Amino acid sequence: MNFKITIEKRQTSKIAEFYPENIGFGKIFTDHMFLANWDGLEWKDARIVPYGPIPLSPATSAIHYGQSIFEGMKAFSHSHDKGIHLFRPLENWMRFNISAERMVMPYVPKELYIDGLKTLLKLESAWVPKNEKGSLYIRPFMFATDDFIGVTPSKTFIFVIFCCPVGPYYSKPLKIKVEETYSRSAPGGVGYVKCAGNYGGAMFPTLQAQKEGYDQVLWTDPLTHTLIEETGTSNLFAVINGEVITPPLSATLLSGITRNSVIKGLRHLGYEVNERPLSILALKNALNDGSLAELFITGTAATLVGIQGFGHRDAYFDVMDQGNNAVSTHIKTWLDNVRHGNIPDELDWNVKI
Ligand code: COI
Repeated sequence: MNFKITIEKRQTSKIAEFYPENIGFGKIFTDHMFLANWDGLEWKDARIVPYGPIPLSPATSAIHYGQSIFEGMKAFSHSHDKGIHLFRPLENWMRFNISAERMVMPYVPKELYIDGLKTLLKLESAWVPKNEKGSLYIRPFMFATDDFIGVTPSKTFIFVIFCCPVGPYYSKPLKIKVEETYSRSAPGGVGYVKCAGNYGGAMFPTLQAQKEGYDQVLWTDPLTHTLIEETGTSNLFAVINGEVITPPLSATLLSGITRNSVIKGLRHLGYEVNERPLSILALKNALNDGSLAELFITGTAATLVGIQGFGHRDAYFDVMDQGNNAVSTHIKTWLDNVRHGNIPDELDWNVKI
C-alpha cells in the first residue's frame, strides 16, 4: 500500500524561538504535523501541514465517548553519523494497532504510520535536541470524528502525529503512594491499551496523592490491592537480592516499550530479570531485611527514574536511604548510550530516518 503524502510548509519556522537548554517537557511543538483521515472505508488525504488547531464539531464522538488512543515515542540525534534515529518505532506501531482493535478503531497500516513519521521527521530534523539529555518526543494519536450523539463506534477517524523537543519528564527521584482505594483498570477492561480514558481516570487519585506530598500513585491490582502493577506514567522495577523483578504483563498493565527494552537490555548485560508478581508485603519485607536495593520506573516520557520511597497507608518507606542505584544507573547509562548512538546498537533498535 502506498500513500501519497502532500506537504504544506510553514512560511517561517518557529525554531528561532526555541532554546534547547531549558525545554522542559511537552510545551514546545515543532512547525508541522502529519494527518490522515479514515472515511469509513480507507485512509486518505495523508498530509503534512503547519502545526495548529484541528477544527472539530462539538458533537465529535471522541470527546463524548472517549474513542481515542495514542502513542509516545522518541527520536534521537546521533553525533557519529549526524543522523536522526527513531527508537524501536515498529513496537509503537504494533501497540497502536492493539489499542485500535480494542477501541473499535481502524487498523493503521505500517506504511501510513512509519512513512508519515519519517516524512514528518525529515522536515523537523532541526528540532531534535543535540544534547545528551534531550530528544524529540513524538505523539501519534487517533480519535473518532463522527459528529453523532448515539453511543456507537464512529465510522470516521483522524490519525495525527506531532512532535515536541523535550528534556526529562521528571527532574528528581519520585515518592509514590501505594493506591488501595482507586483502580486504574480491571480484568476485561482497557488497562493494557493506550487509550485516553486510562489517563483521565487516573487524574483524581493522582491529585489526591500529590496533596499528600507524593509525586505519583503506584497502582495495585484491582481485585485485592496487594500486588504492584504500575505507576501513573510508567512501569515499575525492583531489585531484591540481586534479582530484577517487574510485574508480569496482564490485561490491566500497559506493555511499556521502555519496560521491554530494560528487560532485554538488563539480560543482555548479564542481569537476572524476572517478570513475576510482586506484593506490597514482599516489598516491605525486603526493605526491612535490607534486601531491597532499588526501585525504579521506566517509560518513554519518564525514561528511567529512581524511586526515593513509597507510602503505604499512613507510613512512608524510604528506599534510597538504604539502597543504592547500581542496577538502574547501569541500565540507564547503557540505554541512553544506545539511543544516542554512543555505543554499538547490538540489539538493533535504532531506525535511521
Ligand atoms: C509516554 O511515556 O510516552 C506516555 O505516553 C506517558 C504519558 C503519561 C506521558
